[in-house]
Amino acid sequence: MKYRNYKVADTELSLLGFGVMRLPVLEDGDTVDEDEAIRMIRYAADQGVNYFDTAYVYHGGQSERVLGKALAGGLREKVLVATKLPYWIMKDPSEMLPAFEESLARLGMDYVDNYLVHDINDGRWDLVREWKIFDFLAKLKKEGRIRFGGFSYHGESPELFREILDAYPWDFVQIQLNYMDTQVQAGLEGYEYAAKKGIPVIVMEPLKGGKLTDTMPPSVRAYWDSLGKGRTPAEWALRWVANLPGVTTILSGMSTFPQVEENVRVLSDAEAGGLTEEELDTIAHAAEEYRKLIVYPCTACKYCMPCTAGIDIPLVMNFRNWSDVYGVTDRQHAEFNMFLNRGKPSACVKCGKCEEECPQGLAIMKAMDETAAIYE
Ligand SMILES: NC(=O)c1ccc[n+]([C@@H]2O[C@H](COP(=O)([O-])OP(=O)(O)OC[C@H]3O[C@@H](n4cnc5c(N)ncnc54)[C@H](OP(=O)(O)O)[C@@H]3O)[C@@H](O)[C@H]2O)c1
Repeated sequence: MKYRNYKVADTELSLLGFGVMRLPVLEDGDTVDEDEAIRMIRYAADQGVNYFDTAYVYHGGQSERVLGKALAGGLREKVLVATKLPYWIMKDPSEMLPAFEESLARLGMDYVDNYLVHDINDGRWDLVREWKIFDFLAKLKKEGRIRFGGFSYHGESPELFREILDAYPWDFVQIQLNYMDTQVQAGLEGYEYAAKKGIPVIVMEPLKGGKLTDTMPPSVRAYWDSLGKGRTPAEWALRWVANLPGVTTILSGMSTFPQVEENVRVLSDAEAGGLTEEELDTIAHAAEEYRKLIVYPCTACKYCMPCTAGIDIPLVMNFRNWSDVYGVTDRQHAEFNMFLNRGKPSACVKCGKCEEECPQGLAIMKAMDETAAIYE
């Protein structure tokens, strides 16, 4: 495993961090497959992964619990654990401490290393200031219950990102970055700003939530094939992020054991500045081609869920995008009817809650109408 300096902790973080948001689930689609998840987490730790990123809300609380279980019995002391404060589900600031304590209880830990103000965006920044959430973090830090305070960002622009970064002395930041999202949210501009300020940058969604993998359109895949190195699309995407020297660790939310194996392998070898000009150029062209095809760049983070009308929104977004990329085949029709036998997109009641929560700012309600028109 490659490591990069995490200067605030005077330690090194593994270049691959484990995003504990997309654990394998059982057939009911909700219950985490605990045995397999623990096997994956422990394997990653055995291979040198020393950073694990969970959150109060992931898998409805199961993520923190399963992570705590996986790390109990000796691993906890060897790794850094991050979790997050979901202030946006709270009525007032008095709920922050109980939520933090619930996170600790689920994890079975008496402190976490990194604690993040979860998902600051344009609509939430005022609340973060009003509730003096940074002061709350500072207090926990003073009490030794967290070691470092940071935030994750899904706002609309690098300008707001800079404003937040400059507002408080954060220990680290977490941003979405991959070769497709160079100019959305914080983007490369935000990354460079943080790196210049010497603030450790933790990257999330390096594979765009799984969109930059084998499932990508054939015309984009062709770019990788042209490079002739036998690397998978996921490997190219991870190497693109690893190429940036200011990135401290790259979180991937792995959902299968082979994904953990591959990502461990790739980030045990990738170097900052390791890609050639030709490779970077090809990646830029691939991104351009992909952007032309994907109308709704959903990352299936599920922040939009649960849907008021019981629709599996990320799945519908997938069907909507597939229809542009691959055309609408009989097989896709059959799959649509099989997977969406309850909660078809036409059931959308236009309450708009999903759009308020979507970190990507997608026009979900419009996509529901379009998908219904295409498939129903
Ligand atoms: N703070 C925030 O606001 C926030 C928001 C989003 C994420 N995060 C954190 O950041 C972490 C990383 O984000 P992410 O989960 O979106 O990361 P990601 O790496 O972009 O996406 C993970 C998905 O990519 C696919 N994948 C991973 N490795 C693969 C491989 N080698 N080959 C093929 N497919 C592969 C899997 O998709 P399939 O399951 O479809 O196979 C997996 O579920 C999250 O897990 C979470 O901890 C935080």
